Amino acid sequence: MNRPDNIKARNIVWQQSQITKQQRAEVLGHKSKVLWFTGLSGSGKSTVAGELEKKLHEKGIVSYVLDGDNIRHGLNNDLGFSPEARKENIRRVGEVAKLFYDAGIFVVVCFISPYKEDRDRIRNFIGDDFVEVFVKCSLEECEKRDKKGLYEKARRGEIKDFTGIHAPYEEPQNPELIINTEENTAKECADKILNLIISP
Ligand code: ADX
Repeated sequence: MNRPDNIKARNIVWQQSQITKQQRAEVLGHKSKVLWFTGLSGSGKSTVAGELEKKLHEKGIVSYVLDGDNIRHGLNNDLGFSPEARKENIRRVGEVAKLFYDAGIFVVVCFISPYKEDRDRIRNFIGDDFVEVFVKCSLEECEKRDKKGLYEKARRGEIKDFTGIHAPYEEPQNPELIINTEENTAKECADKILNLIISP
């Protein structure tokens, strides 16, 4: 396992599970994957994830959505939006995603995750079952949608470090899939993902 060597605790010993991921897959009837949605705020990550979750459920696949806004209400409620805080946000959710993945669950992660380096680190420790999905939508369209009214606040200077306005978003160069929410409905995007991950 590719683990960082910056562990603070000493005298800790890794405990090996008595059940393998393969054995869990046999009970559940499917393998697990980490579907990592990255894209601007308002690009449609959570909406597409909602559609995908329903479709996976209909197929008898156990899935769970980890959503940035939700995780920031609990586990990550001590983190803001500085580059360091975002890095830690993504590091923690990557670890949580790995746990769900090991447990045999299809985990759908919806975080802006603006930095390529942070996403790539998780790709490396998950391996082949990491599926990066770029939820593509222009800044202009996200700003026009502005469902949460955050772009307007950011433009007025009431929110600092807003992604796309004053903070960067590094587009994936080689994602497994690009879905375009300006050209396709959320249902269509979910179908595209399903086609990629479920072999007929
Ligand atoms: S990330 O950049 O660290 O991956 P994350 O996905 O957890 O972001 O959270 C993004 C959500 O937080 C947005 O959808 C939006 O609702 C809210 N938000 C509040 N402030 C900001 C900000 N400065 N930049 C981006 N999103 C923000």
